[in-house]
Amino acid sequence: MLDWYDRHRRELPWRAKPGDPVDPYRVWLSEVMLQQTTVAAVTPRFLAWTARWPDFASLAAAEDADVMAAWAGLGYYARARNLVAAAKVVVAEHGGVFPQTEAELRTLPGLGAYTAAAVAAIAFGARAVVVDANVERVVARLFAIETPLPAARPAIRAAADTITPDARAGDFAQAMMDLGSSICTTRSPKCLLCPLRADCGGYAQGAPERLPVKAKKAAKPQRYGTIFWLERAGQVLLVRRPDTGLLGGMRALPTGPWADAPPGFDEAPAQADWQMLEQRVVHGFTHFDLELALAVAQVEAHQPGEWWSIDALDTAGLPTVFLKAAKAVRTR
Ligand code: ADE
Repeated sequence: MLDWYDRHRRELPWRAKPGDPVDPYRVWLSEVMLQQTTVAAVTPRFLAWTARWPDFASLAAAEDADVMAAWAGLGYYARARNLVAAAKVVVAEHGGVFPQTEAELRTLPGLGAYTAAAVAAIAFGARAVVVDANVERVVARLFAIETPLPAARPAIRAAADTITPDARAGDFAQAMMDLGSSICTTRSPKCLLCPLRADCGGYAQGAPERLPVKAKKAAKPQRYGTIFWLERAGQVLLVRRPDTGLLGGMRALPTGPWADAPPGFDEAPAQADWQMLEQRVVHGFTHFDLELALAVAQVEAHQPGEWWSIDALDTAGLPTVFLKAAKAVRTR
């Protein structure tokens, strides 16, 4: 795998070139951004973020609202809040120097087992076992692990441990990730190009794409809500969502409650002549699917709150679900 990596490693903006020093800040930031988000989506955001906040000190001094806006569209917004919180701890309690061991890393906000292992291995050269979804797939196939996910996770981790080298564990992990994204892909793995083919249990059985077996997921619950679009003189009313809960801390269009049936105009942000649009916005979250009705109204009198120019709405840092709503309103 290391030979393969030396020849085929992807050039990615958070990867140091061979022989160059590794910047732990960039490794950590990239690993957090890459959880639940693809390399293609992360790359431009990583570049913009590191131009604005190039190190722990600048991130620790950043305004929460600016950071949340810069994260908009990447989803799982607690990750962004935890980045700032962790940067503050690094500056205040570790003299601006990132802790190096997995155990110390895990004491920082938002640093779970995966991120701590990835940073310890990639940034600090520790022998750590790094298992993300790509690695999980490669290992399940290599060892022909038949147990369905998620129950297979401990066996997959144990198997990954047996093949992790003492030296260059970070390169090994990234080699497995690159192999998983380019060759050992979910649907049609390119086994003829794979450096692990001769050892691969899944290949030997003839159907590697069958692995890893996934347990059937329960259907997601369907929930409903209303988004309120209140216009006044070319501007629209925005709110900041509470720090805890769905899309916590993000700037947003006002919404009513989520409910098991369409809640109508409950919790409208103002008395107005609300009109319901025909068009709905649908958005999938981790634990439920949401269908949102769009209520639209105009007011003349000034209302307290944050009003944003509709023409510049793309600069507000709104989460994707509200951008969908804005698009629906503006093309009505
Ligand atoms: N996915 C998560 N971490 C990664 C990394 N360091 N390189 C490539 N893909 C990744």
